Amino acid sequence: MSQLLLDDGRFREVLGHYPTGVVVITAADAAGQPIGMTIGSFSSVSLDPPLIAYLPMRSSRTFERIRTAESFCVNILAGDQEDLCRRFASGPRDFHGVAWSRSPGGAPLLEGTVGWIECTTYDISEAGDHYLVLGRITDLAVDRPVQPLLFFQGGYGRFTPKSLVALPERDLITGVRLAEAARGELEQLAHRLDAQASALAAAGGDLVVVGATGAPGRPVDPPPGARVPLRPPLGELHVAWQSQEAVHAWLDQIRPADEDLKAAYRRRLEVARARGWAMAMTGSRPEGDFYADLRAYASADLTPERARRIEARITEAAQQYEPVDLVPGQRYDVQSIVAPVFGPEGDVQLVLRVCQLPQQAEATEVLGWIEELTAAARRVSAAEGVSRIFRAIDTGLEQAG
Ligand SMILES: Cc1cc2nc3c(=O)[nH]c(=O)nc-3n(C[C@H](O)[C@H](O)[C@H](O)COP(=O)(O)O)c2cc1C
Repeated sequence: MSQLLLDDGRFREVLGHYPTGVVVITAADAAGQPIGMTIGSFSSVSLDPPLIAYLPMRSSRTFERIRTAESFCVNILAGDQEDLCRRFASGPRDFHGVAWSRSPGGAPLLEGTVGWIECTTYDISEAGDHYLVLGRITDLAVDRPVQPLLFFQGGYGRFTPKSLVALPERDLITGVRLAEAARGELEQLAHRLDAQASALAAAGGDLVVVGATGAPGRPVDPPPGARVPLRPPLGELHVAWQSQEAVHAWLDQIRPADEDLKAAYRRRLEVARARGWAMAMTGSRPEGDFYADLRAYASADLTPERARRIEARITEAAQQYEPVDLVPGQRYDVQSIVAPVFGPEGDVQLVLRVCQLPQQAEATEVLGWIEELTAAARRVSAAEGVSRIFRAIDTGLEQAG
C-alpha cells in the first residue's frame, strides 16, 4: 500500500471542514491543583461498558499533569463560554478567577457548562503524535440545556436549528408591511372587543406575529416577533386556501403519521374555508405556559430537543381547535379567533387574530366578535394600500435582483 505524505496545511485544511463541539478536560494534578485542557477530539464510544474518548497531543505538558489524576471531567462548553475555551487552550489553563465546584468523584467541574461527564482512565494508547485516551464514565449530568459551543475552520459558533435560520426576507417584509396597513383595524378591534388583536404572517415554515396591539392597560402577549411552527393544528387559515401540495406538506408534519387524524384536519380546513374564520377554545393548560413556549421557540437558545418538546405540546392542544357550533344561550371560553386577509392573487397573506377575550361569553356575543373580526379582515384585504404594498415589494425585489 502506498503511503500518503501529507503536509500540515493540507491536513488541517481538509479536516477543518469538519466541525466539532468543544470540551474542557479537567482534573487535579499531582499537587492537587485543578487544571484543564481544551479538546475538540472528544467522542462518545461505548454504552456497555460506558466509555468516552479524547485525543491529547503526546507533546502536551498539560496532559502529562492530567493523566496522573484518579478521575477527570469532560466539561461540555456552552455557546457563551468561548472565554473558557481560549483560557484552557492558549491561556493559563489554571482555575484562577474561574467559577468551579467538584464532581461527586472529586474532579473539578466548570460552572455554566451544558453538562459534564466524570470518568476514570480506562486506557491510554499511542495514536501517532497523539494519545487515544478512553475514559470510563462514573457519573454525568446535563446542567444547562442550551446551545453548545461549536468550532469550525478556526472560528466559534453555535448550532442553528432549521427554524432559526433567517426567515425568508420577502415573506417577512410583506407581513410586516401588511400588519402596518392593518394597524388601525387591529387597534379598533382590541378596543371594541377588550382583547388583544394581532396579525400573523407565514415565513420560513413558521407563523410570525408581525403586529400586535393589546387591550388598554394589558401587556401584549405574544408580542411582535413571537413565532410558532406552522404545523397542525396551527396555521389552518394559512393553508386552507392553498394548493393540495401545501395542504399535504402541512399534514405531513403530523408524527407519527395518522390517516384518521389527517382526515379530521382536512374536514377542519373545509369548515374554515366555508366559514371564513376559525376559532380555538381555552384549554386546560394556562395560557401563560403556552406563551412561555412561544417565547422559547423564538429565542436564540432553542435547541432541537426543546423545539421537539414544544411541537409535541402544540400537537397535544389539537382538540382545542376542533370546530365548535355556537348554540344560542350557551356560554363559551374562547381562546382565539382568526380571520384571513387575502392578497391580490386570492391567497392568504396575513391572518388577523384576537385573543385574551372575555371568558364565559354567550354565543351571540362570540358571534358579534367573529362578525367584527371578519369584517376588519375583509376591509384590510380590500384596502387600496394593500395592493400597493404588493406592487411596491415586487418592484423593489425586481430592482434589487
Ligand atoms: C477548539 C480547540 C480544540 C482543541 N482540541 C485539541 C485536541 O483535541 N487535542 C489536543 O491535544 N489539543 C487540542 N487543542 C489544543 C489544546 O487545548 C492545547 O494545546 C492544550 O491546552 C495543551 O497545552 P500544552 O500543549 O501546552 O500542554 C484544542 C484547542 C482548541 C482551541
